[in-house]
Amino acid sequence: MSKKSATAEGHLAAGQGLMEKMVSLCKRRGFIFQSSEIYGGINSIYDYGPLGVELKNNVKKAWWQAMVQLKDNIIGLDSGILMHPKIWEASGHLAGFTDPLVDCKQCKKRFRADHLLKAKGLKPDFRPQDFKQHGLKCLECGGELTDVRDFNLMFKTFMGAVEDRASEIYLRPETAQGIYVNFNNVMTASRQRIPFGIAQIGKAFRNEITPGNFTFRMREFEQMEMQFFIEPEAEKQWFEFWQQERYGWYLNLGVNKNKLKFREHDKKELAHYCRAAVDIEYDFPFADRELEGVHNRGDFDLSRHQEYSGHDLQVAAESGQKFLPHVIETSGGVDRATLMFLLDAYTEVETRSGDEESKHETEVILKLDKRLAPIKVAVLPLSKKLDKEAREVFDLVRQSHMSQYDVAGAIGRRYRRQDEIGTPYCVTYDFDSVEDGKVTVRDRDSMKQDRVAIAELKDYLREKCNV
Ligand code: GAP
Repeated sequence: MSKKSATAEGHLAAGQGLMEKMVSLCKRRGFIFQSSEIYGGINSIYDYGPLGVELKNNVKKAWWQAMVQLKDNIIGLDSGILMHPKIWEASGHLAGFTDPLVDCKQCKKRFRADHLLKAKGLKPDFRPQDFKQHGLKCLECGGELTDVRDFNLMFKTFMGAVEDRASEIYLRPETAQGIYVNFNNVMTASRQRIPFGIAQIGKAFRNEITPGNFTFRMREFEQMEMQFFIEPEAEKQWFEFWQQERYGWYLNLGVNKNKLKFREHDKKELAHYCRAAVDIEYDFPFADRELEGVHNRGDFDLSRHQEYSGHDLQVAAESGQKFLPHVIETSGGVDRATLMFLLDAYTEVETRSGDEESKHETEVILKLDKRLAPIKVAVLPLSKKLDKEAREVFDLVRQSHMSQYDVAGAIGRRYRRQDEIGTPYCVTYDFDSVEDGKVTVRDRDSMKQDRVAIAELKDYLREKCNV
């Protein structure tokens, strides 16, 4: 084995170790659970536990703040998951949102054709004749494969009492279409002029053939998408602007710069609606993978909706001339970003709390940005005897910060429990507190301790947590 591949394998093995530790931490501490676990689970659907829902909400809040609250010309929307079925004809998803699939006639395992080709070292841009030509067989059992067929990734259901073709509808595979079909309503109601954007966070559904890597690729997931409507001539400038803006958002939330990069799509891999696409990728433990896409969708979607709906979706330029706006889209996954923030924050250190019982142990600290941390403050009485007084401090702090109260176990162990879930501040109420009306505030990262008057605690924490 070459030195290079040995290093690469080492990196992969370390990465797999990190994924296993993360899955275990998520379950143990209540971030993420396998959905329907007591029934044996359901593949690639996950539920967010008490800490997971806080973290995910904070990710969405940070996105909304950056994309809507702090922008002059972006407004929000929350459209339905179920929409008129014609939308998916117009958007091209009915015809084009497919994966080429083959089944093994023997063991019935299903493969994506492009993945099979890739596994055999062949070019993944699929042509049916490649299968015959190269005599490709099932990767599992060597069995014969069926012909390739296109498999649509949209989930289908029926609306109303009758289950026939006329009542077929789809769960949306992207939130973007809800924005396009509301384009006129939003523009008029909010008195916007080009350039402006519409932002939306919501669930999307895809019947993925090869889901996996925990919450990286799921069948039910959430997207944070923004469609920015512009004049056609301004495409290049805004495409570049939004790449930098979105990259900066991750950096601002503390993500390791060395793990983030841009990847431009080559023409062959572009989605059917795209003229150009650049991914922001993260160095996940399993590989460099897409976190978010910035897409130049041109006027593809608006022109199709104009054609299929019969509604004029043009706007007037300064000159009075009418034109169809072009669109630069930023499209990120909430679940994927949440997983990335967890992995990026995961830190192991040798025991640092100094108490006897934790000697020679490895401690885990989630160094999440304070804005993302699910719990901002933990209030810990030094002794059970101080329960009543410490609870009063807890009741004060919880009014402005998501907080936890923990009285069980040695103080060192309680600190470690909070470090492991990324709580930036631990407030300890001790016997001196009764006398001097002060508490000790410990910082998760610096381990620095400040003695703070209880009367000033709320302001102190507000300033520290930046929320
Ligand atoms: N509107 C454009 C669009 O949907 P996409 O590249 O298919 O583009 C955008 O998806 C983002 O949505 C991805 O970068 C990823 O973060 C997230 N995403 C897509 N499919 C996903 C899945 N199966 N599970 C989790 N997240 C997914």
